[in-house]
Amino acid sequence: MGETAEPGRKRAETPSIVILTGAGISAESGLGTFRDKDGLWSRYDLEEVATPQGFARNPKLVQEFYNARRKNLLDAKPNAAHEALAKLQRERPGHALIVTQNIDDLHERAGADPQDVIHMHGELLKAHCNACGARRDWREDLSIEARCDACGAVGAMRPSVVWFGEYPLEMARIEEAVENASLFVSIGTSGQVYPAAGYVEIAQIHGARTLELNLERSSSSFDEARTGKATDIVPAWVEEILAASA
Ligand code: OAD
Repeated sequence: MGETAEPGRKRAETPSIVILTGAGISAESGLGTFRDKDGLWSRYDLEEVATPQGFARNPKLVQEFYNARRKNLLDAKPNAAHEALAKLQRERPGHALIVTQNIDDLHERAGADPQDVIHMHGELLKAHCNACGARRDWREDLSIEARCDACGAVGAMRPSVVWFGEYPLEMARIEEAVENASLFVSIGTSGQVYPAAGYVEIAQIHGARTLELNLERSSSSFDEARTGKATDIVPAWVEEILAASA
């Protein structure tokens, strides 16, 4: 297979596999993707609901957009693809880092190690205060009148997600992991949004093998691509990895 870490090549504390996930891994859990036909960005204007400028112009619209998504998420369940990645982490502790662009918590609910799941675009079930920065869990609807527990500001609470024009989270940790990985796997992402879209090239430059698992190929950059539904191809790939490195 050639997909497992070459012994001695990587530092023990760095994960040998970096797995980048996107909306496609959660599609079969009933959460919509962004750019597929009928995807969220065909129904909503990204500039209005996913930018700081859109929030400043119409906070109510933005809160309602994320309130609807939060409700969907609370009704959704992890699927076989999330579960397979959690199994990989359990059986190869410390060796498989999940970097997700998804703001859902389905990796964690499937049993992934929260220490080894990086939500580079933030988390829908958290909110933070634009006035003082305090961050807390948030499972209810968020209103424009919400009050910050920490500083008392009214109207400054927002979903703790990264909008276009804002910096993705934990970039240094992600880049270090990608540069040190032996295998970089991209699952269910269209590769349209940077910096995530550039990780495949960074991984290749540093000598990793690269694999895409997607309904359809997103680019020709990967060494190998397997197409199909995430719930079929991700568990199959995980079983191969575990068998090859048993
Ligand atoms: P996209 O909607 O751009 O891409 C979804 C990908 O999932 C496509 O490549 C589909 O082929 C694939 N897909 C759909 N159903 C699938 C299935 N059942 N099994 C496997 N693959 C499937 O979503 P992302 O690439 O995640 O950012 O989008 C990246 C970022 O753009 C998001 O994090 C979000 C968005 O704007 C922000 O909001 C900042």
